[in-house]
Parts: sequence; structure tokens; C-alpha cells
Amino acid sequence: MADLHEVILDAATTADAGLLSNLLELYIYDLSEAFRVEIGADGRFGYSKLALYWSEPERRFPFLIRCDGRIAGFALATRGSPATDDPSVFDVAEFFVLRRHRRSGVGRRAAVLLWSRLPGRWIVRVSEGNPGAIPFWAGVIGEFTGGAATALTRPGDPHAWRVFSFESGPQHITG
Ligand SMILES: CC(C)(COP(=O)(O)OP(=O)(O)OC[C@H]1O[C@@H](n2cnc3c(N)ncnc32)[C@H](O)[C@@H]1OP(=O)(O)O)[C@@H](O)C(=O)NCCC(=O)NCCS
Repeated sequence: MADLHEVILDAATTADAGLLSNLLELYIYDLSEAFRVEIGADGRFGYSKLALYWSEPERRFPFLIRCDGRIAGFALATRGSPATDDPSVFDVAEFFVLRRHRRSGVGRRAAVLLWSRLPGRWIVRVSEGNPGAIPFWAGVIGEFTGGAATALTRPGDPHAWRVFSFESGPQHITG
């Protein structure tokens, strides 16, 4: 029923830093089920790289996901990826849909908007300890590329990583 909802990817500005910081707390809390993440003494996880998204605009791309005008999540992308030495590759650094909006196609739509906004070679790294994210990315990337993506498994601690690699180009329809 995704198409009944309007999903938008908005470039986040410094004015959105507080909002993104709050959403990152919810995201890291979700991920702390799979990763050993400790909360700080102030009751926050913190995300020290957030400010870089505005000080390094040539290689960091922050977006808010809105669904029918409401905040539904965010996507943080970088140029350059921990999974390759190629500095031109785009990487999905962080990606989050609020629970209220899950399983209604918001993530699928936002991912396609992201890859279409930044055409080029993309890498998506997913922890195998994140059981919902594996079928999500495998399905969405498979649909987007028509099965043309490569998927490798890399060792990781505490869980292995699934690393998807594919091309996005102007031929991809986002409407
Ligand atoms: C993973 C996440 C982004 C998915 O967002 P979403 O908006 O719920 O995803 P969609 O509704 O677009 O799902 C598209 C398809 O992916 C698959 N999928 C999505 N979530 C799934 C889950 N938890 N378990 C199994 N399959 C899932 C389904 O095939 C789904 O289609 P369907 O609902 O018609 O069956 C969201 O659950 C999330 O933010 N999780 C916490 C943060 C996270 O893990 N981020 C990814 C880090 S790599």
C-alpha cells in the first residue's frame, strides 16, 4: 500500500541537526539489540560524526525521510565506504525508518529515492545480526537493480557483514 503515501527525501540542513541527533538515538537504540553499544552516562548514545555531514558536504549527504509530511526516518550517505578503497563509491552509512512507519514501503521508497538522487556505484553493508535489515536490503536492492547487484559476506565481530554492491543511474525511475 506504499503508493498511497507520499514519501519524500529532504536534504537535511544544519537547522535539522537537533532533529537528526534525536532520531539517531532511536536508531542506535534499535541497533543495540544486535551490536554491543553502551549508552553514555548522560543517557544518550551520541553520534560524533553527525557534524561532519555539514562540514564535509562534498562527501557526506544527510537526508530526512518524510511520509505524508511527517518525519518518518533518515538516511545518511557518504562518498567512500569502509568496504572499498575506491573513494568515489557511495555508501549507505545509516538508514532508519521509525517503527510507526515500518512495513508500509517507506524504507523501500526512500532507498530508491536515495540511490536515484546520487547516481553512481553504491555499497550497502548490513550486519547479519540485524535480521530485519537483511531481507529488506536484499529485496529492495534486488528490485532496484533487476538482480544485477553483487552480494558478498565479510567477517565481522560480533556478526558477519553482507556487502551489496550495485550501480544506480538515471535509468532508474523514482516517480
Ligand atoms: C530495515 C528498515 C529500514 C526497513 O524499513 P521499512 O520501511 O519497514 O521497510 P519496507 O516497508 O519498505 O519493507 C520493504 C520490504 O522489505 C522486507 N522487510 C522489511 N522489514 C523487514 C523485517 N523486519 N523482516 C523481514 N523482512 C522485512 C519485506 O519484504 C518488505 O516488504 P513487505 O512489507 O511487503 O513484506 C527498518 O526496519 C529500520 O529502520 N530498522 C532499524 C534500523 C536498521 O536496521 N536500519 C538498517 C541498517 S543497515
